[in-house]
Amino acid sequence: MLDNKNVVLYVSGGIAAYKAADLVRQLIKQGANVKVAMTASAQEFVTPLTFQILSKHHVYTDTFDERQEDKVSHIHLADWTDIAVIAPATANIIAKLANGIADDFATTTLLATTAPVFVVPAMNSHMLENPATARNLTTLRADNRFVMEPETGFLAEGYEGKGRLPEPVTIVESIKQFLVSQQLDLPLKNKHVIITAGGTKERIDPVRYITNDSSGKMGYSLASVARDLGAHVTLISATKQLSNPFGIDVVHISSASEMLETVMKTYNSADIVVMAAAVSDYRPKKQAAKKIKKNEESLIIEFEKTRDILYQLGQEKQKQFLIGFAAETNDLESYAQEKLKRKKANMIVANDVSKPNVGFNKNTNEVTIFMPNSEPIEISLRSKEEVAAEIFKIAIKQMIK
Ligand SMILES: Cc1cc2nc3c(=O)[nH]c(=O)nc-3n(C[C@H](O)[C@H](O)[C@H](O)COP(=O)(O)O)c2cc1C
Repeated sequence: MLDNKNVVLYVSGGIAAYKAADLVRQLIKQGANVKVAMTASAQEFVTPLTFQILSKHHVYTDTFDERQEDKVSHIHLADWTDIAVIAPATANIIAKLANGIADDFATTTLLATTAPVFVVPAMNSHMLENPATARNLTTLRADNRFVMEPETGFLAEGYEGKGRLPEPVTIVESIKQFLVSQQLDLPLKNKHVIITAGGTKERIDPVRYITNDSSGKMGYSLASVARDLGAHVTLISATKQLSNPFGIDVVHISSASEMLETVMKTYNSADIVVMAAAVSDYRPKKQAAKKIKKNEESLIIEFEKTRDILYQLGQEKQKQFLIGFAAETNDLESYAQEKLKRKKANMIVANDVSKPNVGFNKNTNEVTIFMPNSEPIEISLRSKEEVAAEIFKIAIKQMIK
């Protein structure tokens, strides 16, 4: 997403200016060409030399330092820009940008920039809440500048408040997300995709439960791919072992019945639903209110069927494209074909979990895709991200048929 993109990083004079050095590194790591401009106040916190060494480019600080006879440097840099990032953005530079003031190199170049401008405010919470700053940020948003939300936490002043600069990796993720949202031709733009992930847990008593080997990795990979294709993604997750992917609404649930209830809440607005979770087929008929004691020689727990979420979704289907998963150890094709029909799914992604490196808890997968009136499509062993990308490629093709 940032590969070969020309990024101009504007560093203004906030205490978080030191973090901008790491931001340069993170942007370069993503393949971006980075040039840095600094305000005079920023140079009180960090030297231009730091940014020159990291970016391997001259650092721009002075409007009248014209080094090339045939170019006006602020216009040249503005024209070179694919994306401008102001981080940290002080209350002062935000005020100038909102009002078209151009009294130093940074603000003059920003005024001449036609590329998207990504603003990362960082300041004391009282400065952020000041009506003038709030007004200026509203103006920037109205001017189609992207303003990233500052973090709440321990401020340099020694108290808690909103105004902290997010960590550089978080800023980079947000920039990538912003660039995705700018692309008009993304296939899942304005589509709502619901994805379930992980193995549900069915309680036996307050300290014990029954679950399965699903890690949730396939569902999380599908969620990230759908997001990058422009979708608004709701990820209903039965695991807390994986970190929340950026730019995705994550809802954590535990049991099969909670998963069904949560899916149903947003089902009407969904365009695609991917049931990648490993939902328990059975749950204990009774859940003991207190921990079961070790009094008896043997223990019998009676199980009852849980409600079949995919079947339920199939019954209530309107416009939704329904994708189900089938993890099997034998008779893959016949189970998958039967599931496809009975559950009224548009696609069943089947994998043979008895094979090494396939399915539960692995980073790779090998699947066969079944769709009504279509020959099975094999996707050979590859990373779960690559499998997820293939699944959406096939689903999108099918949806526009
Ligand atoms: C120690 C110190 C820390 C500062 N931290 C911030 C800050 O985090 N955010 C902010 O908006 N201003 C901060 N300021 C105030 C700005 O440096 C000041 O408003 C300056 O005029 C900003 O100039 P610039 O926007 O051209 O960089 C700080 C000032 C000092 C002395």
